[in-house]
Amino acid sequence: TIMILFGPPGAGKGTHGPKIVESRNIPQLSTGDMLRAAVAAGTDVGKKAKAIMDSGGLVTDEIVIGIIKDEIAKPECQNGFILDGFPRTLAQANALDQMLAARGEKVNCVIALEVPDSVLEERICGRWIHKASGRSYHVKFAPPKSLPAGAKPSASNMKDDMTGEALMQRSDDTAEALKKRLSSYHAETVPILKHYEPAGIVTRCNANQAMDKVWGEIEGALNKTS
Ligand code: AP5
Ligand code: ZN
Repeated sequence: TIMILFGPPGAGKGTHGPKIVESRNIPQLSTGDMLRAAVAAGTDVGKKAKAIMDSGGLVTDEIVIGIIKDEIAKPECQNGFILDGFPRTLAQANALDQMLAARGEKVNCVIALEVPDSVLEERICGRWIHKASGRSYHVKFAPPKSLPAGAKPSASNMKDDMTGEALMQRSDDTAEALKKRLSSYHAETVPILKHYEPAGIVTRCNANQAMDKVWGEIEGALNKTS
């Protein structure tokens, strides 16, 4: 299955992606996580991407298409994969179609997480992540076990549940960068849903409800997909 997990910053792509990985046994490819790894490693791509990401802009199509092309060629991606944060422009969607056509495949399923802009600032500004795995936590909605009730979150009490490693906040998780991320989401990314609608593969889920309810809707969409 080739699946796109679609939605604005803070919709829950990183929250629900790992559960799809588990239920479908296919990898999740997050261009955001890959770019953050490139920034941390100080590669050429990371150097080009850092300032753009911090400000909330979009990295060039050329860079992200190159990353995805290398990634889907790997053996672990031959039985399908979940795309998180890609494609984000029509040029990326067209490039993806071409890459898949070359291997006799196409996108089978698009899960669109719908949530109003007004709730996203609280989600984004309260998020902490485990860098190595990409796992997301939230000070209020999904606190790690290490945070005592009522305590003020800090680097010393925000730890990953699985590894105990320190959590961190993303440098683009500010109210200001979020505004820019949302404006490019509406201008460039939302229109690509029309690219997939004629094939009847888009399922919209209400992502403005408790996480387990959102997951229930996603599971319903997965069960309809072969
Ligand atoms: P990327 O990493 O893809 O960021 P994004 O799209 O802005 O999405 P987020 O990761 O912020 O949201 P999410 O949906 O994963 O939310 P999460 O599940 O963590 O991209 C970052 C940057 O990289 C881009 O700005 C761009 O510069 C660059 N980039 C990446 N891909 C690119 C591309 N293809 N082309 C060009 N540039 C690209 O949830 C958020 C928080 O909310 C968490 O704390 C979570 O616990 C909480 N939460 C989740 N669900 C709920 C719920 N139902 N109720 C309450 N809280 C919830
Ligand atoms: Zn994410």
